[in-house]
Amino acid sequence: MNGSTEHASPSIPSASAPAYSAATLAVHGDDALNSSTDVAPALHVSTTFRYKENPGELVPVSDYELANGEPGAPPTSDSYIYSRLAAPNTSRLEAILSKLIGAPSLTYSSGLSAFHALLVWTHPSIVAIGDGYHGCHGVLKIYQKLTNCRIVDVHDPSSWSGKDEDGKSWALGKGDLVHLETPLNPTGEAYEIEKYAGWAHERGAVLSVDATFAPPPLQDPFAWGADFVMHSGTKYFGGHSDMLCGVISVGKKREGWEKDYWGMFQERLFLGAVMGSMEGWLGVRSLRTLELRVVRQSQNAEKIVQWLHGLVSGDNGDADAELVKKTVERVQHSSLQVKQNSWIEKQMPNGHGPVFAIWMKDQELAKRLPSKLHLFHHATSLGGVESLIEWRRMSDDTVDPRVLRVSVGVENWEDLKEDLRSAFKALLESK
Ligand SMILES: Cc1ncc(COP(=O)(O)O)c(C=O)c1O
Repeated sequence: MNGSTEHASPSIPSASAPAYSAATLAVHGDDALNSSTDVAPALHVSTTFRYKENPGELVPVSDYELANGEPGAPPTSDSYIYSRLAAPNTSRLEAILSKLIGAPSLTYSSGLSAFHALLVWTHPSIVAIGDGYHGCHGVLKIYQKLTNCRIVDVHDPSSWSGKDEDGKSWALGKGDLVHLETPLNPTGEAYEIEKYAGWAHERGAVLSVDATFAPPPLQDPFAWGADFVMHSGTKYFGGHSDMLCGVISVGKKREGWEKDYWGMFQERLFLGAVMGSMEGWLGVRSLRTLELRVVRQSQNAEKIVQWLHGLVSGDNGDADAELVKKTVERVQHSSLQVKQNSWIEKQMPNGHGPVFAIWMKDQELAKRLPSKLHLFHHATSLGGVESLIEWRRMSDDTVDPRVLRVSVGVENWEDLKEDLRSAFKALLESK
């Protein structure tokens, strides 16, 4: 709001805006769209919106970009047409996300529909991708079915060029996509974004980063050269295990980035993969506490990982070390990579992702541990306020059957630790 109305809401000054922190942006990033006296955002359920009465002010949908100006800037309240194009609750969500992520952001009905939209827009002939969330590979296979694209290993640039059976050379280059997931699902390991950005850019390709496992304020992939950033907003943006959401943010450093934003905006209208208004509303409610939740979850995870790793590697003298060593093979998390990789703390200056993996000694132990826990739900997904553990084979058959994925919530970390400690004990006792 411009501050001139009788019931003006607090608002962030635009031109000379100070560099507010994530905590402040999460609460005020949508102030410009707060057009009523409500403090809590209203829920708008309409799919269709009345046009202006004055025929002279009618702006057809084909001119939507012009009417709304800057990519990621909130639409004016009277420019809504149909909710597959844009709608008030998701616009508020996008306004906040654009500020938090530091780049114009578009929302989608899920993380996978966001990845699909990215593939459709960038339309690569070659995609470099590694392990990580199996669903993205599922989407890529569908894209490959339609385009016959080539898929190469993101971690091995020597695989990014070669010769066909008929002797014709090919190489990843302009128009192609290098897609990096960091931290990685399900292990929580991190990869150096800057290195992959260099590999992509020296070939003229673009780098997209799936940053789902380290949302703001933990990691800013644009600072390290990403061209597009993707999130499954279902996880930390939603944060309460009650909404699906996907996000694509368009970096402003690449030439033609406005075209990328508006192109994806237009294509979303036809792909139809928009969030529902209820989900958009829940998303705004959730983002208000993003920083509180994520920082707490990150701190909890790091403490639990250090404790558990200390027991497994036997260097913290804990009486329960022998107990844990009998059942756990190793723990995996970016915080355990720091000693060997100085870039990690620069890339994630505000903490590590709140997900880590426990490798049990065998598959049976991995299957049984969740049943011994009281504070961790045995369920898939991650990022919610409640701690989850998953025998990862339940949803991803490409993962080693000894792997348990742990998503740490906002509970007291010592309570979580004690729950794990007694579960390891119960596991051995019931063998
Ligand atoms: C890293 C990562 N990317 C993408 C997705 C897909 O997101 P969604 O389930 O919202 O479609 C997930 C889901 O678990 C994920 O973990």
